[in-house]
Amino acid sequence: MPPAGHEFVVVANRLPVDVTVGEDGEPDWTRAPGGLVTALGPVMAKAHGAWVGWGGAPDQELEPFEVDGTQLVPVSLTADDVERYYEGFSNDTLWPLYHDTIAAPTFHRHWWDAYRRVNQRFAQKAADQAAQGATVWVHDYQLQLVPRLLRDLRPDLRIGYFHHIPFPPLELFAQLPRRRQVVDGLLGADLVGFQRAGDAQNFVRVVRRLTDLPTRGQLVTVTSENRTVRAAAFPISIDSHAFDELARTDAVQARAREIRAELGDPKHLLLGVDRLDYTKGIRHRLKAYGELLEDGRLSAEDAVLVQVASPSRENVGAYQQLRDDVEVLVGRINGDYGQVGRAPVQYLHQSFPMEEMAALYLAADVMLVTALRDGMNLVAKEYVAARSDDRGVLVLSEFTGAADELAGAVLVNPHDIDGMKDSIHAAVQMDPREQRKRMRRLRRRVLGHDVTAWSQDFLAALAAGPGQGPTSRGDGDD
Ligand code: G6P
Repeated sequence: MPPAGHEFVVVANRLPVDVTVGEDGEPDWTRAPGGLVTALGPVMAKAHGAWVGWGGAPDQELEPFEVDGTQLVPVSLTADDVERYYEGFSNDTLWPLYHDTIAAPTFHRHWWDAYRRVNQRFAQKAADQAAQGATVWVHDYQLQLVPRLLRDLRPDLRIGYFHHIPFPPLELFAQLPRRRQVVDGLLGADLVGFQRAGDAQNFVRVVRRLTDLPTRGQLVTVTSENRTVRAAAFPISIDSHAFDELARTDAVQARAREIRAELGDPKHLLLGVDRLDYTKGIRHRLKAYGELLEDGRLSAEDAVLVQVASPSRENVGAYQQLRDDVEVLVGRINGDYGQVGRAPVQYLHQSFPMEEMAALYLAADVMLVTALRDGMNLVAKEYVAARSDDRGVLVLSEFTGAADELAGAVLVNPHDIDGMKDSIHAAVQMDPREQRKRMRRLRRRVLGHDVTAWSQDFLAALAAGPGQGPTSRGDGDD
């Protein structure tokens, strides 16, 4: 197929919409809300962009279709691809390995074969869509081979890659049986972006140890092609201003009051919002909260915990185990400390629209983000963006990318249950003046650096070439 002529192509595992096939065989879609879509929307419209990705269900054969000026190009995955490439290699090998092996990674050779095969398919689709000399932006750990595969197909392209999750230290990365192919895959890009300076440093160290390519600071020379690849940090953000505005609407403000009333107007409302993922530290959070009730430092009547845990990757064993563990813990706390008509933990295994999330953030006195490892954690930023009243306390794990940026949060080590209990207790007791001081600082950062600034920083650095530094603050030295 000849190049379709898009000057800008995004390649991500998922399309920015969930696609179902209507009875007439035509695609029917609902917008999958996400910062990436918002951030890239204007660039997409200006450059007549295309977005290559999977519609979210197996065995869908769909023709490209247009949504808001963006050409959406579905990549089809068979049920076998979903099992081996998505659930297997992406989410049962790479995900746990890249998150400090919080869960043990599983290695299967046939998963690798599927990962390569599917990455090739994404690369081919991108190659088919891109105009001569176009810019292609590849996203995340599911597609680490695409930069190399795409360059082999289309050496004329400018290729950027952004890694949304942590990049692990060499000592963990080295466990990956096909580690060298993964490094070579990423080095197909001109610019490899990470959330934190430490991730970029981990990557460069991996390159030094696993290849014989010359490096200088964060630059790697691919000698065979006389090309330089740059690694750097570009911390992602959210559409902070839109979120701020949403949370200021009368409807959201009223709903926030209603939520508190429905919970019996507790003195303290604590909130956790996560995909139900073992990286999020939900068990540690529940343990700390349960012990605070047990110790009598919090009372079940005064302090209610709302835990939203949205369903995720439900066919992967570690996620099924986590769900069981969390639900046992919730049941135990509610059994021990509840009363008729009152449960100290409100557990919601559901996803909610943005309006409801904004109302929950506004209603919450203390937001608990206690991830054991997290590339960034956008929930922390959403909470801050929602709090134009300068109230509320963010308790934030040191092991999130957000902790590098969000001075003003109460930082915790979620493995240290006693320390975390003290921090939660302090957050619950924090006086409003201290809350305001911290929240103002947090809001300056979150509103001052939104997802549009993030994408502009990345794309400007990609356009400028390897000699140029990013304008974003998080860039680290070597
Ligand atoms: C993380 C990853 C994304 C992924 C998302 C949801 O944020 O960085 O690439 O899309 O989780 O996970 P899912 O497996 O449902 O796409």
